[in-house]
Amino acid sequence: MITSVKRLRHVRLATPDLERQVAYYRDIIGLAEVGREDGRAFLATEAGQLALVLEHGAEPRLAALALDVAPDLALAALERSLEDVGLRAERASDTAPGSETAIRFEDNEGRVVELHVGCHFHDNRSPLPGIAPLKVGHVAFYTRDPVAASRFYADQLGFRVSDWIEDRFVFLRCSHEHHTVNFTRGSDARMHHFAFKLRDAAHMHRAADVLGGQKVPILWGPVRHGPGHNVAMYHRDPDGNAVELFYDLDCMTDEALGFWDPRPWHRDRPQRPKTWVGLPRDVWGLPPSPAFLDMHRLQLPTDLT
Ligand SMILES: [Fe+2]
Repeated sequence: MITSVKRLRHVRLATPDLERQVAYYRDIIGLAEVGREDGRAFLATEAGQLALVLEHGAEPRLAALALDVAPDLALAALERSLEDVGLRAERASDTAPGSETAIRFEDNEGRVVELHVGCHFHDNRSPLPGIAPLKVGHVAFYTRDPVAASRFYADQLGFRVSDWIEDRFVFLRCSHEHHTVNFTRGSDARMHHFAFKLRDAAHMHRAADVLGGQKVPILWGPVRHGPGHNVAMYHRDPDGNAVELFYDLDCMTDEALGFWDPRPWHRDRPQRPKTWVGLPRDVWGLPPSPAFLDMHRLQLPTDLT
């Protein structure tokens, strides 16, 4: 194993229109712009943690998935671990303000992954306008091979499998939260969607009002999912990236217990990691809108969580 990942640190998105994306994530999502450097914009949450790096690119895509590892890990040891499993690593000292210790490599399907050591808080003015999520919570990807993807992230980065939907969608956790990365079968390895965590139902209500007030169409939800049981709502950013807002994600307080903290809306008691088969999976809420399905080119459209 390379190491055991502790949390999702931030997401790097490439965009052909940096200023439009900065305006959207600052004014509507409600992140604070905390730095600009070499054509990149750094955006942090109200709590002061980096959530998003926006950078110039020919087309919209996820440029990197940035993960936190144990703060006492040495970069040289991480490099050796990567070499041991045949992966080429490079030091990434310029990945984000406040982060001088990171290492970058490509996963089994060429996604760029950064492992960061140490944390840094930015000094934000609070409260922020817009939705102001608590943090960036998870990233979902397409994959040509969900089994291979789940094995790589489990065997090399310490993720645990939380749930499967049949044999085509896998949810993986690196902490007490139900999922931090997801993989659904598709024709390539691009991002499917990424998600910001909200506090509660009142925060979701506010988020819907913010999106409605800015004439941003809500494409799916709110809906309470089956796997993870998060209440989720989806729209897209100006580049067309699918953005989820969620709260109430299942938590496993103690791995030794082996089940999700009991909730009244669980179907199984206790609710353990499992393979979900059949419909309906969602506890309540309508299916995704045709506009939402269209943006995913009908690739396994109902398997978003
Ligand atoms: Fe999701």
